[in-house]
Amino acid sequence: MSSEDAHRSVEIAARVERRWATIAVIIVVGMALLAAFAGIHRATMPQPRVEITDPSRIHLSGEFVESNLGSVLEANGNVTVRAIGQQYSFTPACIVVPADTPITLRATSADVVHGILIQGTNVNTMLVPGYVSEQLMRFTRTGDYLMPCQEFCSFGHEGMWGKVKVIDKTDFANRAKAGGRLSCVGQ
Ligand code: CUA
Repeated sequence: MSSEDAHRSVEIAARVERRWATIAVIIVVGMALLAAFAGIHRATMPQPRVEITDPSRIHLSGEFVESNLGSVLEANGNVTVRAIGQQYSFTPACIVVPADTPITLRATSADVVHGILIQGTNVNTMLVPGYVSEQLMRFTRTGDYLMPCQEFCSFGHEGMWGKVKVIDKTDFANRAKAGGRLSCVGQ
């Protein structure tokens, strides 16, 4: 190797090193900006994932119209429950779900802040007017679970109770065959 060749390879090595150093700095800065954006964005939102509704119109159209409330068996075997809270009741007042099934609860409020708490489980979420609350749940045992409103929502708060009825998975599937939205109201 002549001294000229050696000089050139040192130059090439330095150039490649600078290029990779630049790329590394760009990646680090990019990740820092991403983390900052995610942190600030989340901090300014009432919940990590935000879906909004118009409380004055939920009964007229969209996901939370009365005919769409209750439990529905999805094509993948999971269950989605849609409910609303209003002074001073839940609709449906009695939610029916199958045991041993992943369930997604989607709920909102028609007026003021309410809460859904299912006794004996870790299901506990606020229902804030204008926002959709989503919570995943799964019940291993069949039976009745009390579901009180757990946010003070004015003078009728103490009387605002719902119920969750967990039934056998096969029974639920049979009832779901008829289509529509299931609830245990009237049973
Ligand atoms: Cu609704 Cu308290």
